[in-house]
Amino acid sequence: MLELHNVTKRYEQQLVVNDVTLTIESGEIFGLIGQSGAGKSTILRMMNCLEKPTSGEVIVDGRNLASSTARELREARKSIGMIFQHFNLVANKTVYDNVELALVLAHYPKSKRKERVLECLRFVGLEEMHRKYPAQLSGGQKQRVAIARALVNEPKILLCDEPTSSLDPKTTAEILQVLQQINERLGVTIAIVSHEMDVIKRICHRVCVVSKGEIYKIVPIEPLGIASIEDHPQTFVDELLREGV
Ligand SMILES: Nc1ncnc2c1ncn2[C@@H]1O[C@H](COP(=O)(O)OP(=O)(O)OP(=O)(O)O)[C@@H](O)[C@H]1O
Ligand SMILES: [Mg+2]
Repeated sequence: MLELHNVTKRYEQQLVVNDVTLTIESGEIFGLIGQSGAGKSTILRMMNCLEKPTSGEVIVDGRNLASSTARELREARKSIGMIFQHFNLVANKTVYDNVELALVLAHYPKSKRKERVLECLRFVGLEEMHRKYPAQLSGGQKQRVAIARALVNEPKILLCDEPTSSLDPKTTAEILQVLQQINERLGVTIAIVSHEMDVIKRICHRVCVVSKGEIYKIVPIEPLGIASIEDHPQTFVDELLREGV
């Protein structure tokens, strides 16, 4: 689905990602974990060439994004959504307009936009909030809008950079559940960066441990589920279940 081949990134003389080779399989949730500054975000951002590798190949659906033209890259990026820790919503646009913007940029037919925007907002449980502005939303709601915006062009893969790092434990569980539904119901492949092992353990099928710009190891894991009994006191799990998480 997505392959990095011998990918390296330098900023001036600093080598921040060194010779990374990995394959993300179609349908999996692939985690990247490691210490601050290890190079996780840089690796993730090279997966859609938001950051261009200094050398190496980024293969998505058989195409090397690292050597694509700007036009080819724009086209390829329609199949790759991305969400961030700080949501990156446009402050002076409504929820609806934030999501629609992604369709406008992709030249989606105007007559079909409304239906598609509302469909995606419904998926993340925010349809009735579509007239609100980002400042009127909670962190979890903002991330849901960002997720709707990332989904609107029907991506095959969703890149998530610390999507729950600004959120409290309850909201984290809710957002992880939305991501899991996107994976299971919509068949979207997910790559997720986190520095929290708990987040990775709950939803990922494999985890890549990144250390000093290199892959330390990639290990398969059995997702423990959103409310993992091992990680939380029973009361917290009960609480989550009561709330239907
Ligand atoms: N635009 C840039 N210019 C120069 N150096 C950069 C740039 N972006 C990242 N770096 C450096 O690359 C290294 C890896 O950064 P990166 O953001 O990928 O780490 P990370 O693992 O995501 O860390 P964190 O957990 O803090 O988000 C760091 O040393 C960082 O200072
Ligand atoms: Mg980072």
